[in-house]
Amino acid sequence: MSKVNRMKVGILSGGGDAPGINAVIRAAVRKGILHYKYEMIGIKDGWKGFLEGDFMPLTLTTTRGILHRGGSILGTSRTNPLRREDGLQKILENAKKSGIDAIIVIGGDDTQKVAQKLNEMGLPSVSVPKTIDNDLAYTDYTFGFNTAVAIATEALDRIHTTAEAHHRVMIVEVMGRYTGWIALEAGIAGGADAILIPEQPFDIDEVYKYIKQRQDRGRNFSIVVVAEGAKPKGGVEITYSDSVDEFGHARLGGVGYYLGREIEKRTGVETRVVTLGHLQRGGSPTAFDRILATRYGIAAIDLVNQGKFGRMVALKGNKIVSVSLKDVVGKRKTVDPKLYEMATVFFG
Ligand code: F6P
Repeated sequence: MSKVNRMKVGILSGGGDAPGINAVIRAAVRKGILHYKYEMIGIKDGWKGFLEGDFMPLTLTTTRGILHRGGSILGTSRTNPLRREDGLQKILENAKKSGIDAIIVIGGDDTQKVAQKLNEMGLPSVSVPKTIDNDLAYTDYTFGFNTAVAIATEALDRIHTTAEAHHRVMIVEVMGRYTGWIALEAGIAGGADAILIPEQPFDIDEVYKYIKQRQDRGRNFSIVVVAEGAKPKGGVEITYSDSVDEFGHARLGGVGYYLGREIEKRTGVETRVVTLGHLQRGGSPTAFDRILATRYGIAAIDLVNQGKFGRMVALKGNKIVSVSLKDVVGKRKTVDPKLYEMATVFFG
């Protein structure tokens, strides 16, 4: 009996994890195997696993029970093949050696840049937009963002009661390297008294003014939400380490403490700082993210089947569409100024 030559599809997750990666994998694998009769293979730890030829079989059994789980069953990394002289070539060789015909790449802008290059070099790829920062262009939402906003909102609710009881200013630092989507949406949902985002450098006197306004109105506590990438007017982002990752990104963190010190000095009000950090990335995805990630996974394997490579699945309104990866990479979806303006109605 002759062996049927099945198409072999690889999946990898790269960059920072985001709740919902496993839901994408589960959906793509299930439809790939049951519907299209593909062989599915996992590439471990992002581009690192591809460079090292570190793979694992993805079957109905290995992808069972993972829908609600955060992280990635494949692992992830910020390994950048473009930083290695023969990085892309090595990946092409490993794809050939292991018989991988096409790949599904779950990642943010850095990961997608590599996918785009590999696609041009002849490794057919389809992309899925992932980042809690929600800053990828040409999609209304990346999966993971909704979960991060939900976690930050719950944190703000909790911080509200303790801030009120102690009559304190509470500064809540959230993630958001270049864009303030998490700060803005969690800030609106959690009733923040000021929201500071990377897109709009802040003036500390303005923040002081909002707190003072509240005091004048008899509100003796305030909550300020700040994105980690926010910077003072004329200043730079605050980092807590000099090292950069393989894609050249600095390690942000500390703007909350900077603000806390300045505000306490100016207002004389006791101030505390909370940094939510990776809490926003860990744990179970929300129902919204599970559904979005599932839809993305199905759409990605459908694109593979249709031979539509060099494309990224995306959400437009309530529809899943696909866009050219070439258009997506290197761009950034920044906060909608109208939405930010709306939020300012509640400042102070
Ligand atoms: O993936 C995006 C992000 O969560 C940013 O908001 C944050 O600056 C960065 O990742 C943190 O990365 P790491 O996990 O490498 O510290």
